[in-house]
Amino acid sequence: MHRVFINSIMKRLVFTNDKGGVGKTTTVANLAVGLSEQGKKTLVIDMDPQADVTFALLGQRAPEAGSGYLPPTIHSLLIGHYPIENVIIPAPRYPNLFLIPANADLADAALKLSNRPTRLRHLLDNLSEKDYDLILIDTGKGLDPLAVNALAASDEVIIMVTPGKLELDAIGRMQEHVRLVREEVLLHASHPKIRGILITQADPYSITRDTILRIMEHFPGLLLSSIIPKNNDLQKAIGRASSIFEIAPGSKGALAYKTLIEELNL
Ligand SMILES: Nc1ncnc2c1ncn2[C@@H]1O[C@H](COP(=O)(O)OP(=O)(O)OP(=O)(O)O)[C@@H](O)[C@H]1O
Ligand SMILES: [Mg+2]
Repeated sequence: MHRVFINSIMKRLVFTNDKGGVGKTTTVANLAVGLSEQGKKTLVIDMDPQADVTFALLGQRAPEAGSGYLPPTIHSLLIGHYPIENVIIPAPRYPNLFLIPANADLADAALKLSNRPTRLRHLLDNLSEKDYDLILIDTGKGLDPLAVNALAASDEVIIMVTPGKLELDAIGRMQEHVRLVREEVLLHASHPKIRGILITQADPYSITRDTILRIMEHFPGLLLSSIIPKNNDLQKAIGRASSIFEIAPGSKGALAYKTLIEELNL
């Protein structure tokens, strides 16, 4: 009898909000380490010139371009025409975890990509479905051409929200951005889809409860049930370029990210 093996689909997930400081990098770094420890071959793409997730996962900054030298970074991939295999590096401290790092050079790619919104998507299409189980993309703040490239390259979008910062307006804007990318950039594609809204830095006070209720009322069905608490260990871990699973594996933060991995079925 003939047996057909179906490869698992290499899902591309982007974590976004057009506001800064909402926990995107903290979430991408911890999910990536958590997934890699579960044996999932994971590729993180740093699409932020601040390069925070690069620092979190490597423990050091990626070298910058200098007289004739182009380091293997996302900038070299997007602008310098390096093939994708040349810019993917292993994160040596973690099994199964790979990274396309960023550095400040990326800032100048934003301008050059303004009329190439599908550049990253086409580059990722050169990877085989078998290469990675998952691709996680971290973005910076604002909806610049880098963020549009990240959205257009993704299958699913997680909208990140912290309580009490005009979050409904931000979610509405992100929903519209995702729709525009689907309709105008990808010409009526079925992706990217909004996978869910993730609340981070939640505390026990009423502002968080109100945020939860407002999101449930205005965006029915989109709020993820995993909620990431405000947790000092998460802040400590990222500050030390480490993951929560190393610094405080029994903490509320670690538990929340494990629950999120299960809920997203990653
Ligand atoms: N759940 C949390 N509990 C406590 N502190 C947190 C939590 N999540 C993030 N932080 C802290 O909040 C700050 C912003 O987080 P982070 O860098 O992940 O946000 P970001 O959305 O990636 O920001 P940017 O838009 O600048 O890239 C950091 O100092 C981080 O340590
Ligand atoms: Mg960040």
